[in-house]
Amino acid sequence: MVNADSSRVLQAAQALARGDLIGLPTETVYGLAADAHNPQAVAKVFQSKGRPAQHPLIVHLLEAAQVPLFASHVPRFAQALMSACWPGPLTLILPKQSGVADAAAGGHATIALRCPSHPMAQALLRAALGLGVQGVAAPSANLFGSVSPTTAAHVREAFPQLLVLDGGACAVGIESTIVDCSRDQPVVLRPGILTASYLSEVSGMSVLTSADRAHNASLDRAEPFFSGLVAAAPGTLASHYAPLARLRLLTAADMAMRLPIVDCRVALWHRSAIPAFTGVLQAVMPSDAVACAQALFAQLRELDAQGVQEIWVETPPAGEAWDGVRDRLQRAAA
Ligand code: TXA
Ligand code: MG
Repeated sequence: MVNADSSRVLQAAQALARGDLIGLPTETVYGLAADAHNPQAVAKVFQSKGRPAQHPLIVHLLEAAQVPLFASHVPRFAQALMSACWPGPLTLILPKQSGVADAAAGGHATIALRCPSHPMAQALLRAALGLGVQGVAAPSANLFGSVSPTTAAHVREAFPQLLVLDGGACAVGIESTIVDCSRDQPVVLRPGILTASYLSEVSGMSVLTSADRAHNASLDRAEPFFSGLVAAAPGTLASHYAPLARLRLLTAADMAMRLPIVDCRVALWHRSAIPAFTGVLQAVMPSDAVACAQALFAQLRELDAQGVQEIWVETPPAGEAWDGVRDRLQRAAA
């Protein structure tokens, strides 16, 4: 980081310590950050986003050594996940220490913790810790229900008055993978760029996904917990991440078939070849899942800004590498 950045970071840390909000770059998406121990500051986050206050926030930490401040119990598989993936795009749900960060946890008995790897996030967390801020609660810095921000400019669009640290375009581009570690077995609550098989490999435990739950209804009967998962991860609302234009997920063949008869302004985001149509915007979708995730939210915003009525996105390929992208697109299309 250059000197100008260091003084901005210090200024932002001071703002957090005073109880103000800042825009925070992370490797996944930008966050709207507040001191996790300050209930008034946390209330401002919910209010600014228009987010219901029982909808819990992720607390960002400088390092794993801070986890015991917030979590009352860390299973061995959670420890292994932290060692392998932190700092990085992984959030763990753990049983919460009582009496800490209640507002950030939205009144839940568990807490979401994550240690981000973005150098500017790390610098901010270190500076804030030096001023007594032990954890930084931050949801994605967008209005509730809209597309997450992956640049500082996206954050300023939604929050023009906010002090935003500019850390460039986010490298991952979709939100962290969330793994519930508050039970005997880890469960992915929100898919991200880290796949369930990778997480299973590094944790030494089989990490369940929503597909496992759907295909194995006996899990729900055996463990009442599974049926409560939607309530446990309220951010998994069906209509999350929606652009203004209507988003449709279609195969390339469907796109080609519908284009000649379409009666509104349409933009396409596709990997396969599709014949050009006058007046139809076309953007190329990366055929690699990681590159596609990185581009996703900025691309949806860009097509949205063209004032089209519909955005047609080519259905992502099968395979777990695409789980995070597929999840965001399905929600945006819901
Ligand atoms: O990548 C990310 O995770 C970004 C950056 C800023 O770190 N943050 C983010 O925060 O995506 P947000 O608030 O947009 O999403 C947090 C998700 C929500 O779906 C919320 O329901 C879930 O985490 N969550 C938080 N605490 C939880 C808890 N105790 N139990 C279950 N889910 C929880
Ligand atoms: Mg969000």
